[in-house]
Amino acid sequence: MPAEKKICLSAVGLTKIFGFGSSKTLAVDHVDMDLYEGEVVSIVGESGSGKTTLAKMLLGLLNPTEGDIYFQGVKRDISSHKKKQEYWKNIQAIFQDPFSSYNIFHKIDAVLLDCIRMRGGGKLPKEKKVELMTEACSFVNLKFAELTNKYPFELSGGQMQRLMIARIFLLKPKILFADEPTSMIDACSRATILDFLMQLRNEIGMTVIFITHDIGLAYYVSDNVFIMEHGKFVERGSADEVILHPKAAYTQRLISDVPKIYEEWDLSTV
Ligand SMILES: Nc1ncnc2c1ncn2[C@@H]1O[C@H](COP(=O)(O)OP(=O)(O)OP(=O)(O)O)[C@@H](O)[C@H]1O
Ligand SMILES: [Mg+2]
Repeated sequence: MPAEKKICLSAVGLTKIFGFGSSKTLAVDHVDMDLYEGEVVSIVGESGSGKTTLAKMLLGLLNPTEGDIYFQGVKRDISSHKKKQEYWKNIQAIFQDPFSSYNIFHKIDAVLLDCIRMRGGGKLPKEKKVELMTEACSFVNLKFAELTNKYPFELSGGQMQRLMIARIFLLKPKILFADEPTSMIDACSRATILDFLMQLRNEIGMTVIFITHDIGLAYYVSDNVFIMEHGKFVERGSADEVILHPKAAYTQRLISDVPKIYEEWDLSTV
């Protein structure tokens, strides 16, 4: 990585415990992590390993039980509504379930106008706002004119995913978490969405963190990879180091599981 790369987000000893007593779950266990400006990283691990919980703490959607978060070298303070809004200008997410990301009572133009307002464009003339929304929609091959009077639940899963990227296009955050959509989206739209995200990161130098079960995807898109097991990183490094030369037994198992998926689908043996 070039020397001028700056750390944009850090976690120090970040820990989340859900529940109390015998029903306690240690979801994230003293995680240390540095994310650099403009890099693409993946967090890979099995279901329940703590990936989403870690992301939600970094996003300020879940309070850590222990540990600290630093944004651009300064300890994060989101103690007031105003400070939270300010933080969310810089750090955004695309979640597994797009339905949970929208206020379903707001029409689509309201969803997009909200992004313009967050970026300080609330007082722009109406024509300028429409121009920005049209541009954001066409970036993801959606037609703004056809969407303006609809509610999010009137869109297909794929359109909804693209609307999420249009929001990111308007918000231009410094950091984006993409918690991988699993069931909502087919392989083709998934490739298109990856494409849009990579284009955006090239244009605005955004840091992108993919959260995925898919080690092939992680290898394909990432500069650096973090492997998570039971709330801890068991291995981290460049995509080449971690995926081509894995050291941890857990990583080796994740990688060796990949061809098995295809074997199961080999119909020639039926
Ligand atoms: N709100 C919650 N209350 C109690 N336990 C929770 C809560 N959210 C997550 N957990 C627990 O924390 C652990 C980590 O969950 P998390 O959702 O972070 O996993 P994940 O790695 O994102 O899994 P997946 O790949 O299935 O999305 C799991 O044991 C889960 O049951
Ligand atoms: Mg998850």
